[in-house]
Amino acid sequence: MADKLDKRVAIVTGSSSGNGRAIALALAKEGAYVVCTDLKKGALAGGYEKDIEVDTDDIITRSGGKSTFLPADASKACDVQKVVDHAVQTFGRLDIMVNNAGVFTGLHNIIEETEEQYDFTMNVNAKGIWLGSKYAITQFMKQEPITTSTGAKLRGRVVNIAYIGGLVGLALEPAYCASKGAVVNLTRELALDFAAERINVNAVCPGFLATAMVRSFLEKEDTNKLLHDLTPWPRVGSAEDVARAVTFLASDDAEWMTGSMLTVDGAFTAR
Ligand SMILES: NC(=O)c1ccc[n+]([C@@H]2O[C@H](COP(=O)([O-])OP(=O)(O)OC[C@H]3O[C@@H](n4cnc5c(N)ncnc54)[C@H](O)[C@@H]3O)[C@@H](O)[C@H]2O)c1
Repeated sequence: MADKLDKRVAIVTGSSSGNGRAIALALAKEGAYVVCTDLKKGALAGGYEKDIEVDTDDIITRSGGKSTFLPADASKACDVQKVVDHAVQTFGRLDIMVNNAGVFTGLHNIIEETEEQYDFTMNVNAKGIWLGSKYAITQFMKQEPITTSTGAKLRGRVVNIAYIGGLVGLALEPAYCASKGAVVNLTRELALDFAAERINVNAVCPGFLATAMVRSFLEKEDTNKLLHDLTPWPRVGSAEDVARAVTFLASDDAEWMTGSMLTVDGAFTAR
């Protein structure tokens, strides 16, 4: 059986750790050529990755896939443009943009939250996804569409990583919820603007996951219990749960899906 993403060219932001790393590995497993990009090539120390000392692009190339790494700040326009140019120079085009890089500054209400925390969160989580979408879609519009496995013409696909807190309010995360709400509605807006061009723009909205971002909460008894109590499924999510959903949205199986918010949350939002 052919790989679902055979020779498709993908960029994954925040690819060194957690969701980004699992997404890059999953896309490569389906045959995609993956441009990994993050602030640093090495994984964050707090992650749950089994082989944390090996960098994402090295895992892919060691297992026979094609991948490169380019350091870039997803919230800086010139960096994001360079990553898109790098993908095109290295692999000839760009088919899939996964805007995953994100930050979380912890639990606090708006009285306690600082302006710096708000600006930092919005800059990476909201502006970063706007920039990634802007430069990817600009490239999609420049290149010839490809014919997919279903015989359709495809210019490119964007998958944004949002959050359940972009769909509903979650206590003590004001800037984080605001930033993910921005991701959700930008995703819908872009889907409308580019549907006629056959550019898919979707988002995955994960619930609580075991990654470096959440480790400090999973290690404390009270917040560990809270995250499990809030999740109807008997475990919290993993980066691999998110990666499987992203792989689907990046594939031809999702040809007619656009402007969708795919929850991967163990039924959190089903209430
Ligand atoms: N962990 C969760 O429970 C959870 C839930 C829902 C959504 N998410 C989202 O998933 C995405 C990935 O989170 P994660 O849990 O893997 O977190 P993580 O902290 O484990 O990994 C995030 C990665 O993004 C990188 N990054 C941070 N700022 C960056 C920037 N400006 N430019 C480039 N790279 C940058 C980090 O270096 C890191 O490698 C984020 O958008 C996050 O908001 C996480």
